Amino acid sequence: MSKKIAVLPGDGIGVEIVAQAVKVLNCLKNEFDLDIEMEEGLVGGAAYDDSGSPLPEATLKLAIESDAILLGAVGGYKWESLDIAVRPEKGLLGLRSELELFANLRPAILYPQLAHASTLKEGVVSGLDIMIVRELTGGIYFGQPRGVRILENNEKQGFNTLIYKESEIERIAHVAFETAMKRNKRLCSVDKANVLECTELWREVLIRISKEYPEVELTHMYVDNAAMQLVRAPKQFDVMVTTNMFGDILSDCAAMLTGSIGMLPSASMDKNQKGMYEPIHGSAPDIAGQDIANPLATILSVAMLLRYSLSNEALALKVESAVESVLNKGLRTVDIYTDGDTKIGTDAMGDAVVAALMA
Ligand code: IPM
Ligand code: MG
Repeated sequence: MSKKIAVLPGDGIGVEIVAQAVKVLNCLKNEFDLDIEMEEGLVGGAAYDDSGSPLPEATLKLAIESDAILLGAVGGYKWESLDIAVRPEKGLLGLRSELELFANLRPAILYPQLAHASTLKEGVVSGLDIMIVRELTGGIYFGQPRGVRILENNEKQGFNTLIYKESEIERIAHVAFETAMKRNKRLCSVDKANVLECTELWREVLIRISKEYPEVELTHMYVDNAAMQLVRAPKQFDVMVTTNMFGDILSDCAAMLTGSIGMLPSASMDKNQKGMYEPIHGSAPDIAGQDIANPLATILSVAMLLRYSLSNEALALKVESAVESVLNKGLRTVDIYTDGDTKIGTDAMGDAVVAALMA
């Protein structure tokens, strides 16, 4: 039976990069018998402009009915002064929580072709292959109470709550251990157990669950040290697992090790392998509409979609090797360009990947 993919371009460069990923999906559909249907929906600022909500009912319904979701990015200057409840980001956070996409997989892989594009020394990053497993539907992003209140002296006080139940920690721990089992069997759990009780519990649960995975070597690291180690000696890591906010920060840091945040895909999974796939970068309103954004992170997100939600490893590998072959030809968007390469735009990069698929 044909699988349904919800396509949600969102805002800013989301529109341009998703268009390239859709080219790739259409090529797989037309030339490689991938049995899919795609349907587009509005999310984020584009949805707010259309209906006053960053996550309209119709979009949520489409996402619920689909087997997988391909998302671009949300947000932009235009919507920054809106009430936080209707900001574009709420559309994304709403999808994550409504669909219970609690496990966010963010690989940071350095393509050898891009080793010199990293701001770090080649020796520090060459061969880098880290998987960050970020908890995505809990923690301080969603904890109650939250808000800004007015104190007796009329001063404002802002507050958010870092909160995790054992069951929430257990389920992300299982995903992390299982991910480590498929890789080099080393898992580093990142917390701030020296200061925050909530992450002391995190550590306790990780240790308990580790008994079910005796082959995996579990280590623990405080988040400040983890940030430092990521830029000092990133190759020490195999799989990292952490809370929602720490994962947000560390995954941007890990992304930059690979030369460009424009290269990194992500998958956000529920317990049944339904997933939402998106590049880890944002909507980059400063470069939107200029045909310069790098679509490779979104195209690589398609590979993750094929692998995890459609169980089609063969086509996932095919997409990944098409991306490699484009890099081997020296084709580069501006973010990964260095002297001697051929600079091309967003649209041409999408076409180049399709051409490599067909080659
Ligand atoms: C990410 C983004 C989001 C997050 C924003 C856009 C809400 O930074 O996916 O990393 O903070 O989770
Ligand atoms: Mg982020």
